[in-house]
Amino acid sequence: MSLDITYARDLVAQASSIVVLTGAGVSAESGVPTFRGPGSLWKSHRPEELATPEAFARDPRLVWEWYAWRRSLVADCAPNPAHECLARLALDHESTRLVTQNVDGLHHRAADSVAADHEDPSRAYPLEVHGAIHRDRCSGCDRRTPGRNDIEASSTDSLPHCENCQSLLRPDVVWFGEALDSTIINDSFEAARSADLCLVIGTSAVVYPAASVPEITLDSGGTVIEVNPQETHLSPRSSVSLKGRAGEVLPDILD
Ligand code: OAD
Repeated sequence: MSLDITYARDLVAQASSIVVLTGAGVSAESGVPTFRGPGSLWKSHRPEELATPEAFARDPRLVWEWYAWRRSLVADCAPNPAHECLARLALDHESTRLVTQNVDGLHHRAADSVAADHEDPSRAYPLEVHGAIHRDRCSGCDRRTPGRNDIEASSTDSLPHCENCQSLLRPDVVWFGEALDSTIINDSFEAARSADLCLVIGTSAVVYPAASVPEITLDSGGTVIEVNPQETHLSPRSSVSLKGRAGEVLPDILD
C-alpha cells in the first residue's frame, strides 16, 4: 500500500466530521460522460453551450434532445464501487455529508442498494446542488414532477408540457447563469465549515459556488483529500492528492 493511501486512510479514521464533494468523474466508471475533456461533446456541442436558459429559450427542442439522451443513458447506468463506498461511509459515519454536483442520481441509487432493508438510506442521500436529471420543472409555475425517460424530442410540438399551467417543462437541473437552491447550497457550506476533512472526488472544481466547498473546509482549518487522475488547481492545497480512478482508489481508503 502506498504511503499516500496509508496517510489518506489515517486522515479518514481520525476525522470527526467529513464532507464529500463529488463531480462527474465519480460517475465516469459507470459510463456517464464528464463535462470537460475527451468524450464530453454531444453532436459537436459543448455541454456549456446547451446547459443554459438562453439555449433553452432559443432551441428547446435541441436542449431536450440532449437531456433525453442523457436521461436514458443514465437510466441504463449503475452505481460503481465509488458511489457504494461513499454511501457506506455516510451510513457508518454519522457526521458525514455528501454534496454532489452530479444530476445523475447514482449516489441516491447506491444508498438505496447499500442500505438494503435494514438501514435508513436517506443519511447517504447527497445534497444535489445542481438538481436532478430525472425530475422535470415547469418553466411557468415551477412545479416539480418526476420526469419521463421516453421524451419525444423530434419536434417542438412533442415536448412535454405542465399539466397544471400548460407551460413547457424543462429538466430540474441548474443551468449556467441560474441561482442554486439557497437551502441546499447553504447546507453544503455549513457541512463544509463544520468538517475537519473534505474528500473531493472526480471534479475539476472550477464551477462555483459548488467549488467553494473544499475551500471553506480549508479556510476553517480542515484538510482535503483529492481523488482525480488529473491535476487540478486544488491539488497543491490538498493534504493528499491521489492520482487515480475513484472506483479503484476509494475502496482502498474507505473500506
Ligand atoms: P468535469 O467534467 O469538469 O470534471 C470531471 C473531473 O473528473 C475531471 O477533473 C477528471 O479528471 C475527473 N475524472 C475523470 N474520470 C475520473 C475517475 N474515474 N475518477 C475520478 N476522477 C475522474 O465535471 P465537474 O467537475 O463535475 O454543472 O463539473 C462541474 C459542473 O460543470 C457540473 O456539475 C456541470 C458542469 O457544467 C452544471 O451543469 C451547472
